[in-house]
Amino acid sequence: MKPGDGIATRAVHAGHDPARHQGAAVPPLYASATFVAPDTETLEGLNTGAVQGFVYSRIRNPTVLAAEQRLAALEGAESAVLFGSGMAAIAGALAPLLKAGDTLVATPDLYGGAQRYLAEALPRQGVTVRLAASGSAADVAAAITPETRVIYTETPTNPLLRIVDLAALAGLAHGTGAVLVVDGTLGGPMNQRPLQLGADLVVHSTSKYLNGHGDVIAGAVVGSRKLTRAVRSMQQASGAILDPHPAWLMLRGMATYPLRMAQHNRSGQAVAEFLAAHPKVTRVHYPGLPDHPDHALAQRQMTGFGGLMSFELATADQARAVVDRTRLFGIGASLGGIESLISQPGSTSHHSVPAERRLAMGITPGLVRISVGIEDTADLIADLDQALA
Ligand SMILES: Cc1ncc(COP(=O)(O)O)c(C=O)c1O
Repeated sequence: MKPGDGIATRAVHAGHDPARHQGAAVPPLYASATFVAPDTETLEGLNTGAVQGFVYSRIRNPTVLAAEQRLAALEGAESAVLFGSGMAAIAGALAPLLKAGDTLVATPDLYGGAQRYLAEALPRQGVTVRLAASGSAADVAAAITPETRVIYTETPTNPLLRIVDLAALAGLAHGTGAVLVVDGTLGGPMNQRPLQLGADLVVHSTSKYLNGHGDVIAGAVVGSRKLTRAVRSMQQASGAILDPHPAWLMLRGMATYPLRMAQHNRSGQAVAEFLAAHPKVTRVHYPGLPDHPDHALAQRQMTGFGGLMSFELATADQARAVVDRTRLFGIGASLGGIESLISQPGSTSHHSVPAERRLAMGITPGLVRISVGIEDTADLIADLDQALA
């Protein structure tokens, strides 16, 4: 079956052909660890690749493959590889690209878990990690050395929603023979297409918008067939695969991803505008607001700005009180789900980042992060209004 070009059509149809699954209208769940062949010759062919099919679910599983094909179609990419978490996807994307003696240059405002991986895991493998002074192309260029094999960035950033100029970083990477890897979790393929801007690999925590229902931890690496083949080969060797059950939930989640994302975008903009006008809020970080430092770049690079934002109150105590007083926003980490969440990044997403570095990154004690879900916008604004009162 050939899906149409629209993203909502691809979200529903890509990766599934009912005719190949007893007419099942939606993708079935193949919860089978192994697959039996009709005879030894076929099994040998399956193992060498001479025969197309399935042998063992760590190597390939029909449900996981369907979810990978759906995600690749959403992203407009040749291929996608699913992992057991977003962090496993980040590690899995970097694994075939780096060896001892190489250098990775990263922009500084990364998800706390990614910072931890770069600081704790890569140096143990003999890889040097250089953090650019900022996400600007000039600062990234200044950090590049002849040993640089990967430029790693995240946009929009979490929790300050800064936007990195991907076309500029792709130009830098390709000028030096490096590969540009982008964590696109906060944008998702509906709001931005890093591959079309020159990125080589996109990683997602699909635990967020792409699955969207808050019931799956998973991640993905998306890109060209050539690069993802190397990623998959290392994944099969290390075993960090996604089980078919969460892949099946992801197939369902991705089917409504464009609808949900449109609501996150609409509601996110309205909530950001409400907060920006509130007298107790000293600053709102949301790329859809005209006073955001990267608003012009965001308008060029993105088609929507999502449901994640952060805002500042005068003190940590005020921030804590607002978090505790909301009723519809669950107090918790994560983002991109149907349900709205609220947290103080210093004690959740960035708790593993040392306090001085947090401050240097702009994560102030009075910073509150919200993930706007798909509830009624007016209800969410009324809840924040009473919590701020
Ligand atoms: C931007 C970003 N990248 C990666 C991750 C890690 O994803 P996971 O929790 O699925 O391992 C997160 C998790 O919050 C994130 O926000």
